[in-house]
Amino acid sequence: MKHFLSTIDWDQQQLQHIIDLAKDYKAGLSSDALKGKSIALLFFNPSLRTRTSFELGSWQLGGHAVVLAPGKDAWPLEFEFGTTMLDDAEEHIAEAAQVLSRYCDMIAIRAFPKFQDWQEDRQDKVIKAFAKYASVPVINMETITHPCQELAHMQAIEEKIGKPQKKKYLLTWTYHPKPLNTAVANSSLLIASKFGMDITLLCPTEDYLLDERYLNAAKNFSAEYGGSFQVSHDIRTAYKDADIVYAKSWGALPYFGQWEKEKSIRDQYQHFRVDEEKMALTNGGLFSHCLPLRRNVKATDAVMDADYCFAIDEAENRLHAQKALMTTLINN
Ligand code: CP
Repeated sequence: MKHFLSTIDWDQQQLQHIIDLAKDYKAGLSSDALKGKSIALLFFNPSLRTRTSFELGSWQLGGHAVVLAPGKDAWPLEFEFGTTMLDDAEEHIAEAAQVLSRYCDMIAIRAFPKFQDWQEDRQDKVIKAFAKYASVPVINMETITHPCQELAHMQAIEEKIGKPQKKKYLLTWTYHPKPLNTAVANSSLLIASKFGMDITLLCPTEDYLLDERYLNAAKNFSAEYGGSFQVSHDIRTAYKDADIVYAKSWGALPYFGQWEKEKSIRDQYQHFRVDEEKMALTNGGLFSHCLPLRRNVKATDAVMDADYCFAIDEAENRLHAQKALMTTLINN
């Protein structure tokens, strides 16, 4: 049984197949691939796009989605093994995943890091525990990567510029007053490298580099798929001649659990916000962000309202890409 936990273990051809089906759905293809089937959507964190697009997508395919928020409208869960459950959790993942598998044909999970200890968070224990105990496919709706966003992002890139191979792709860190998840940034490197793009990762200092697992994956996939990967801390050089600019803010990994200390550092880099002056350095480049986005903090109004911004198209593609993904998993 194949899960969709990260795109790392899906090859380019498999991902392209999903993206191509997503384009067919977007063009009006109708399907009842989920007729009589159901999906459990478990949200440990808030969502606008992911929840709406999965719920509507399963309905459009003839299926049914059950949305649960463990700890709010469903029992709080325990993920440690061998523990004596005297804290808040009323149910262990071992039972919860098996029971949901008896009712539902797929299980999708959103479980962000706890932001206290990156060594702990990088193990991605919650979704791995679901994958271990579930007897149906498990889908990552954002943990420490966001593979569904990757599909929608690459679909949008192909729609805008055609074949992405050897196109200049800039992933830029941008400012946000709070430390945010690295998931979309990790995912951005995975998908751009797997599709052979020439990637520049722009971040203020080495402290803002992403986890070596994703840096190494980007290097290896770039070598395998004919792209390239470099890191820059210089805004003007990094933006120069970019075809695609993708922005995301994230907390510095060495400062996990010491966020007061990190904030005074992060606040020095507010000038990383995406603006028209930076976009003017690109090769008539396009801009996107996964959303949600704080206007005039991460990117200016002018950038968000420009014709070159495809964030709304990318968000729409979440619906089509996830329909394609659910169809693929259910047919497997
Ligand atoms: N981009 C994204 O996953 O949006 P939500 O957090 O609103 O689901």
